[in-house]
Amino acid sequence: MADKTKTVKERGSFSSRLGFILASTGSAIGLGNLWKFPYVAGTSGGGLFLLIYILFMLLLGIPIIFTEFSIGKKMKLNPIDAYSKLNKKCGFIGFLGAAASFAILSFYSVVGGWVLKYFILYLTKGTFEASPNEFFSQFSTSAAEPVIWHILFIGVCFFIVCAGISNGIERVSKIMLPALFIIILVLCVRSVTLHGSSEGLRFLFFPHPDQLSGIKGLSHVAVLAMGQVFFSLSLGTGIGITYGSYLDKKSNLVKDSVVISVLDTLIAVLAGIAIIPAVFALGLKPNSGPGLIFETLPLVFEKLFMGRIFGLLFFLLVFFAAVTSAISMLEVVASYLIDHYKMNRKTAVFIVTSVIAISGSFASLSLGGFEINLFGLNLFDFFSFASEKLFMPLAALFTCIYIGHFYKGDAVSSELTAKPVLYNIYSFLIKWITPVLILIIFILGLI
Ligand code: PHE
Repeated sequence: MADKTKTVKERGSFSSRLGFILASTGSAIGLGNLWKFPYVAGTSGGGLFLLIYILFMLLLGIPIIFTEFSIGKKMKLNPIDAYSKLNKKCGFIGFLGAAASFAILSFYSVVGGWVLKYFILYLTKGTFEASPNEFFSQFSTSAAEPVIWHILFIGVCFFIVCAGISNGIERVSKIMLPALFIIILVLCVRSVTLHGSSEGLRFLFFPHPDQLSGIKGLSHVAVLAMGQVFFSLSLGTGIGITYGSYLDKKSNLVKDSVVISVLDTLIAVLAGIAIIPAVFALGLKPNSGPGLIFETLPLVFEKLFMGRIFGLLFFLLVFFAAVTSAISMLEVVASYLIDHYKMNRKTAVFIVTSVIAISGSFASLSLGGFEINLFGLNLFDFFSFASEKLFMPLAALFTCIYIGHFYKGDAVSSELTAKPVLYNIYSFLIKWITPVLILIIFILGLI
């Protein structure tokens, strides 16, 4: 009993429903919203991409995130022990989720380090010694510097997660998320009031006929939209279960899942409006991947009146978004050590942070400083591939199959059973629609 009380104390809990919503939204909003969504939407169907994205949010995103929250709230445990307790044979689903969080954090915190470096650069100097392109490729492929920034970034996350759920994660989310929202609005206004921004809005929202030609074009857009919903809502990473386990009885998971998904989509669209029109207005083209925020945007800020301030604000925004996502991944793995091995929070978080500091350093080195390849990919890309293409979809797929077809306990959440129509729609989706859609993403992702 004493042991149990100690674990409950070490586990902690959210102090309010708002805290839970903000922390979960913080996990969802991240680099996926800020650089991936604007570019992918622009090159893959614009407004039509957005419509398909919203459709998948309804068919796939909301049902899965709701299921994960419900399992957490019911079991009050980390993902691995929660699944094992639901059914002894299902512990592996929790392992897949925790492995996804671990692998994502290993490369995400490297990018977090780059963001921190850029923020400090705008704060202290505001100029790059070389052109932003050269600067970025030299910096990101060098051996020592990015490793140091990565360790600083994960160090910040360490202190937040060490402080616990309500004192650390919740408190930081309550500051960072509203700040993020204000900054993004400021950047949106700056972007759309630039002369020539309308071309960017057209790129973002109007489909080009050649992007959508025939079934092949459309199915390509659909697959991208599904993948984006998955990554953006952090599905299949155990985060829903972990954060759900810190909830008290008063929450309403149906409403909260919808609110979190809507906020996540809103920020992605606002990020598009803040970035793409400005890029076009200054005569540049949005390019894919990290290049968009680390190479193209610095060029924009160089040309803009008071660009240094906007650069500073932008990287502060990305830093907040990256921190609130990274702490959620750290918490998933730490919560397992706390629940399962009865470790105290500080020791657990210290162990996980140290391992990530090492795995992330190797991921960073694999970009240039020191060659490390696994299955033909450098370690950085390997972590990204393993998490997004394998662990996340598989964890979500097995969750839907188990909950939809095998789970015989009470309905997942009483908020839903109280509304029979909604419950029937949910059951149908989780049994028949979400598993099929995930299987499609999984197979296409591997091809
Ligand atoms: N959802 C985050 C983003 O959009 C990324 C993330 C994925 C965070 C998985 C946690 C787990 O950037």
